[in-house]
Amino acid sequence: MQRSPIYSHIWVYRGAMNLLYRGEYRRRFEDVTRLLGGGTRSVCELCFGDTVVAEWCRANGIRWTGVDINHGFCRRAWRRGLNAIEGDVLAVDLSHADVFLMAGSLYHFPARLSELFDAIFRHTDRFILSEPVRNMSAHEGLVGWCAKRAGSAGTGDGGFRFDPSSLAEALGQQQRRKGLELRVVSVDRDMLVEMTREPCSSR
Ligand SMILES: C[S@@+](CC[C@H](N)C(=O)[O-])C[C@H]1O[C@@H](n2cnc3c(N)ncnc32)[C@H](O)[C@@H]1O
Repeated sequence: MQRSPIYSHIWVYRGAMNLLYRGEYRRRFEDVTRLLGGGTRSVCELCFGDTVVAEWCRANGIRWTGVDINHGFCRRAWRRGLNAIEGDVLAVDLSHADVFLMAGSLYHFPARLSELFDAIFRHTDRFILSEPVRNMSAHEGLVGWCAKRAGSAGTGDGGFRFDPSSLAEALGQQQRRKGLELRVVSVDRDMLVEMTREPCSSR
């Protein structure tokens, strides 16, 4: 599937997301940053797209690194003096961070979840995920067809989306495989989840 025009420019992306989230687009990021807590010194945001979290981290003295495959989104972050890495999250060299984040992007990796979780938990003990579970792409007909294409990053994600039960099932598999604690913080249009592993020092 070709990359959706939504990813052509941040303003197009924000406009589309604001429509989808009925004006609540930024609230998703606030829900995520609220979870970060006072002790967080570094964050790695996978598939960051926008720089809302990055700017929040800068204002709060937290070191931020972002990874995205979209050149335009990375260039925009660089222009703001942010530490963005352009590339596939499964191919770039990740560094340790206190917290890894991913918002609205797990659906790009349905067949690569184990690889993704291995990469994340090689570099952190804490992962915060916000993933849509009520999707317009689940609709039949033209609405669903358009929504599936609108979300394609052009990386072969094939229009896949999670619903509450498929996400719970997929995360449960990773939880058991990696021995993680899993806390569902909230479920609405997005499911907000925190996954942690006991740090090596206390194991
Ligand atoms: C739906 S957007 C979400 C952006 C942002 N996190 C948000 O919540 O609004 C998905 C993002 O994932 C990026 N992306 C998709 N596949 C990727 C991959 N394999 N590696 C890195 N970034 C990827 C896209 O370029 C896009 O910026």
